[in-house]
Amino acid sequence: MAGGVSMNSDLSLDFLRVVEQAAIACAHTMGQGDADKADHAAVEAMRESLDTVMIDGTIVIGEGERDEAPMLYIGEKVGLGAKGKLPWGALPAVDIAVDPLEGTNLCATGAPNAITVLAASSKRGLLHAPDLYMEKLVVGPSSKDAVSLDAPPAENLEAIAKSLGRDVEDLVVVVLDRPRHEKLIAQIRATGARIRLIGDGDLSAGIAAAVVGTGVHAVMGIGGAPEGVLTAAAMRCLNGEIFARLVINKPEDEERSRKMGIADPRRIYRAKDLASGDGIIFAATGVTDGSLMRGVRFFGDGTRTSSIVMQSDPARIRFIDTIHVEQKKMVRIRF
Ligand code: FBP
Repeated sequence: MAGGVSMNSDLSLDFLRVVEQAAIACAHTMGQGDADKADHAAVEAMRESLDTVMIDGTIVIGEGERDEAPMLYIGEKVGLGAKGKLPWGALPAVDIAVDPLEGTNLCATGAPNAITVLAASSKRGLLHAPDLYMEKLVVGPSSKDAVSLDAPPAENLEAIAKSLGRDVEDLVVVVLDRPRHEKLIAQIRATGARIRLIGDGDLSAGIAAAVVGTGVHAVMGIGGAPEGVLTAAAMRCLNGEIFARLVINKPEDEERSRKMGIADPRRIYRAKDLASGDGIIFAATGVTDGSLMRGVRFFGDGTRTSSIVMQSDPARIRFIDTIHVEQKKMVRIRF
């Protein structure tokens, strides 16, 4: 299957293993107050398990440029192909975007919604986003044709409420708790909508916004562009939508974007633009408890993880609860 991700092959389960291992590794550091240590543990474990996957993989979104990140840097080759264990041409050529630990501070403080994340696509199916900020508006399937990135928040919230058949006061909007969002928060408050201010993690909030029953109806505000691409990959699988635009503050930002192949850095992207690949796979595991996934639990004889693994075509969404048994003789499995 050279040249693209094979949707028939069960690469999604290999990627599940990758995010599970990263989550288990960094969950050991939960609450230790050391975000770098947590991130490092996730990166190492993710890198190691990625190299056991039967792919000819290239990191397109990762820990940074080659000179600033020893592992999972942009352009790094990963997978069994990179190890030279199998001939290159025989393996699917896959572009990979990772956030080995989304919410390093959340893990370091034991706060909710830290996750490990990987998205994969056929070649050139994920935007090579520069490490800049991005304006974002994320909504679920019912609201995706009713909102616009440039509309005032009140207008968007009215439209979201209408599409969900509820009042604006019944909506919950997630916003990163940052000084840059002061005006946005005031505008949302003025509508009567409820707000959940989060310390970090607009990617997991975005996933929640596209899943009915999570109690999250939209994510608004400015966050990282790489997280925006990963959110788009999730939206492709969940039929949700992200509207996004890079925040270009200085000529260097524009220059950086153009160098990464972005012809118009001021364009508004939707999920299909940020994650355009035909075969998208998205996998995430909870590190700390969250709205969609529970955090990693260690119980002596083993470890239990909770994950979501999705693919866009054919669309499959799997919520996976895995028990990783360590001491076979002793283990007792609880439902
Ligand atoms: P980490 O990189 O520490 O995991 O933080 C993730 C995050 O909170 C994203 O969810 C968000 O998009 C971005 O950082 C916001 O950036 P900033 O902290 O600079 O406002």
